[in-house]
Amino acid sequence: MDNGSWYKFFHSLSNPVFTDEACQEADRRYEELHDSFLDKYLSPGDGPLLALGAGYGLVEIPLARRGYQVIALDNDKGVLEILQENAKYAKGNLTVAYGDLNSDFHLDYQGKGIQACISFGLLEHFSLDDLQVIIEKQFSISQLLICDIPIRTSETLKTFNAESNPEGHIDDYGIYRNFWTPEYWKSQIFGAYTIVADRPHTEYRQDGQIDVFTLVVRNQKRDC
Ligand SMILES: C[S@@+](CC[C@H](N)C(=O)[O-])C[C@H]1O[C@@H](n2cnc3c(N)ncnc32)[C@H](O)[C@@H]1O
Repeated sequence: MDNGSWYKFFHSLSNPVFTDEACQEADRRYEELHDSFLDKYLSPGDGPLLALGAGYGLVEIPLARRGYQVIALDNDKGVLEILQENAKYAKGNLTVAYGDLNSDFHLDYQGKGIQACISFGLLEHFSLDDLQVIIEKQFSISQLLICDIPIRTSETLKTFNAESNPEGHIDDYGIYRNFWTPEYWKSQIFGAYTIVADRPHTEYRQDGQIDVFTLVVRNQKRDC
């Protein structure tokens, strides 16, 4: 599946290259949206986080600034250059690397003491079949997976102009997305695993409201 133009998409929303003010704003946003929730499941002393589809580091840099060792992967070379530049704000705690989820990227991270595979705004970009493989790759790296996903509500669909085709939607930048309900994610995508916690929340971006949910999942098969 074509990845679309992330570089152009990010620039359409705001300048993705951090300044001191943008970094402070990212910290503030992280604290408001994620801090107290993620702190329940993650700890800086428990090993590195493998951040998949890290983009320019909107969430990943604040995590690194809080003392987490973050290995940040993305498969868009233009976006990785920006992330590398933004890494100067990460207090030396963020490593940038190329990684394509459709490849065998996971082999490089197995047995490395990764605390969790984390992703913010990534899994909605894959089909159901691809997701089964990508989730297994993550669980071959770490027993804990945390993901943040936009969900199907009228506000989210409006923001993405996806009212008429919420599944397999392709935006003006060629970016593919599925907007599924939390129930669908929990039963159809993560049904075989243990859902430790899920938390709905709402984010506001320049282009509108996005309803999101964060899922914390463990690699423990459920009893049938
Ligand atoms: C919505 S952005 C998330 C950005 C970041 N996590 C944040 O919170 O700012 C999704 C990112 O996933 C990346 N991506 C999409 N498909 C990918 C793939 N197959 N392998 C690795 N990264 C991918 C894109 O390049 C993009 O930077």
